Amino acid sequence: MVYLTRRERFNAAHKLWVKDWSKKKNKAVFGKCANKNWHGHNYDLFVTVKGTPDPLTGFVMDAKKLSTLIKKEVTDHLDHANLNLDVKFIPKDLQPTTENLVILIWKQLAPHLKDCQLHAIKLYETENIFAEYLGE
Ligand code: NI
Repeated sequence: MVYLTRRERFNAAHKLWVKDWSKKKNKAVFGKCANKNWHGHNYDLFVTVKGTPDPLTGFVMDAKKLSTLIKKEVTDHLDHANLNLDVKFIPKDLQPTTENLVILIWKQLAPHLKDCQLHAIKLYETENIFAEYLGE
């Protein structure tokens, strides 16, 4: 089994807030991510597929096709968007955290992979914080 990873980037705004909590509690839990008038992150998305290299091409999957798929199904929707308001595949009642985004991104991509399997979605919100989802 060989694992192939493609990186894509997007920039997006969000705000983390629980409406039934006080401002003080929201600030205590979410920090700057609870700022009143939104803020942005420069996200790095790593999509890993797995499979056996094709005997002729040597590819697990054509990395350019994987890039096109990620753009069409994921980053074209997220890039320069407000993650709380603008994205059809993010439920309005769900906190747009990196943890929730990796699950949603998995659901966007998994049905479209035919000759290999999705292995992992890894999403960096900052260079020091990332979430990873392996489909379970
Ligand atoms: Ni944030």
